Amino acid sequence: MCGIVGYNGKNQAAEILLKGLEKLEYRGYDSSGIAFQTSKGVQMFKEKGRIADLRDAVTEEIDAHVGIGHTRWATHGVPDQKNSHPHKSASGRFTLVHNGVIENYEKLTREYLQDVSFVSETDTEVIVQLIEYFANTGLTTDEAFRKALSLLHGSYAIAMLDEQDPDTIFVAKNRSPLLVGVSEEANVVASDAMAMLQVTNQFIELHDGEIVLLGKDGIVIETLAGDKIERAPYTAELDMSDIEKGTYPHYMLKEIDEQPGVIRKIIAAYSTEEGTLDIDPYIKQAFQHADRLYVIAAGTSYHAGLIGKEYFEKLSGLPVEVHISSEFGYNMPLLSKKPLFLFITQSGETADSRQVLVKVKALGYPSITLTNVPGSTLSREADYTLLLHAGPEIAVASTKAYTAQLAVLAITAYAVSCDAHKLDLKTELAIAANAIQTMTDAKEDLKKLAHTFLTDKRNAFFIGRGLDYYVSLEGALKLKEISYIQAEGFAGGELKHGTIALIEEGTPVIALATQSSVSPNLRGNVKEVTARGAHACILSMEGNNEPDDGLVLPHVHELLTPLASVIPLQLLSYYASLQRGCDVDKPRNLAKSVTVE
Ligand code: F6R
Repeated sequence: MCGIVGYNGKNQAAEILLKGLEKLEYRGYDSSGIAFQTSKGVQMFKEKGRIADLRDAVTEEIDAHVGIGHTRWATHGVPDQKNSHPHKSASGRFTLVHNGVIENYEKLTREYLQDVSFVSETDTEVIVQLIEYFANTGLTTDEAFRKALSLLHGSYAIAMLDEQDPDTIFVAKNRSPLLVGVSEEANVVASDAMAMLQVTNQFIELHDGEIVLLGKDGIVIETLAGDKIERAPYTAELDMSDIEKGTYPHYMLKEIDEQPGVIRKIIAAYSTEEGTLDIDPYIKQAFQHADRLYVIAAGTSYHAGLIGKEYFEKLSGLPVEVHISSEFGYNMPLLSKKPLFLFITQSGETADSRQVLVKVKALGYPSITLTNVPGSTLSREADYTLLLHAGPEIAVASTKAYTAQLAVLAITAYAVSCDAHKLDLKTELAIAANAIQTMTDAKEDLKKLAHTFLTDKRNAFFIGRGLDYYVSLEGALKLKEISYIQAEGFAGGELKHGTIALIEEGTPVIALATQSSVSPNLRGNVKEVTARGAHACILSMEGNNEPDDGLVLPHVHELLTPLASVIPLQLLSYYASLQRGCDVDKPRNLAKSVTVE
């Protein structure tokens, strides 16, 4: 949450920084700001709302080759102009942007900054005031920067301008993502490579506790203690078409449509020379040595984990517990003798999941991160990484990362199993990819269904049994996060134990009935709600469908139905959101990469 950018180079900085912030908007969009070194000193613009509002606020031509910018997801202080970044020190000499949370900011204020009048309510302003405080004691900027950083407890990615040193951007990182980009033309800094692909595809990963002096012609990376670090850049394997909407009206629709291709890419990435599906032998060994798998995840990734449990238990016989990361870290259950931890995180940056990783590493347990972002924090810090190969997911509501998680979980469970080879998973996944395609092609039907069934409703229920129940949780999350219709997913048999009281005339109930063993019971549950006035739409699968079913999936292997059954739910949410006039790609109050606990 929150994204930062910085540019120091030969070209005009303003447009590059604004474009960079647009690419980081998925990290938060409550407010934004930008600051430049100009011949008149540091000039700053801040605005509540989206980057488009900031663009409108930058009314004059800015002649500047050095600048920093920020897009905010509010934590400390309401989203308004005064709490927007950049923040300035009392004299105006230092200007700073920050992504992260400073836990001891109140203590630091009491100890060092009693005489400073603060402009904002943010923890960030303490950092910039503290740097000025130390600079005023006679330290150089570099020394004051290091001194202040050494006192901070918490997470930060920081970029700072000093009016007295207009050729340098001061950069620091601890537990918040940050990359430096290098080129002949310019050196840049960004929370995500996507923001600065417009300048370079050569990036250097920064590690926690490192600082960078970012000049136009070169960069110096050092530890906080002052030891120099040499690190070669890597080439970001992204191109601009991966991160542009192209002809699509929204990233979410583009990403929904990409899903058949993503599954095919995953099949190729995990295929051996012999043509079978397999994973890294070291990761396989880690699974084989474990007596229990603990899956740790949040939100959509947690929903994928619930399905992963079925895959591991059914295909490999390994017992699995699935935990919400924000609960697990503070309320750890009794662990087995040989636990293995699997962190499922699309972004690889989720702070709730990372705090669990830190704890289990300290206990000496092995860990694997399943992520879409190579080089992300959880990927670097776990012992092993399994990659999703889904390509950048930019819409805040996750779609293709979820189906990619399901596919890689199935492949992993299959690879660690001794006798799963009775199943031709490769062929079954290819069939599932085709079924996904069929469902994405049904857009017009789903658009109409969203209109007649959901769009003007206050609330909606999703029900299912077994794997369908887990998909119903994901369907409900998708609908509520982008259309703001209050939606809940339930186990079909559980409704009558309380929640059925909420069913009234016209309440929409989407019933998933793809699993042959429980589909008759689920159809019974549908009768219970329709008898009380609900409007039900049954989603079944060829082979066990009935004439009145509203949606019928092409036949896929029953274990893989979630890959296909989630597609119509994603599209229903998309159209309901659109028809209700919501911002599909940037729903209110959310951010894609949740880097606060
Ligand atoms: C919802 C969604 C979130 C994320 C959750 C965890 O569409 O995307 O629920 O799944 O914030 O994020 P990751 O997977 O990056 O750890």
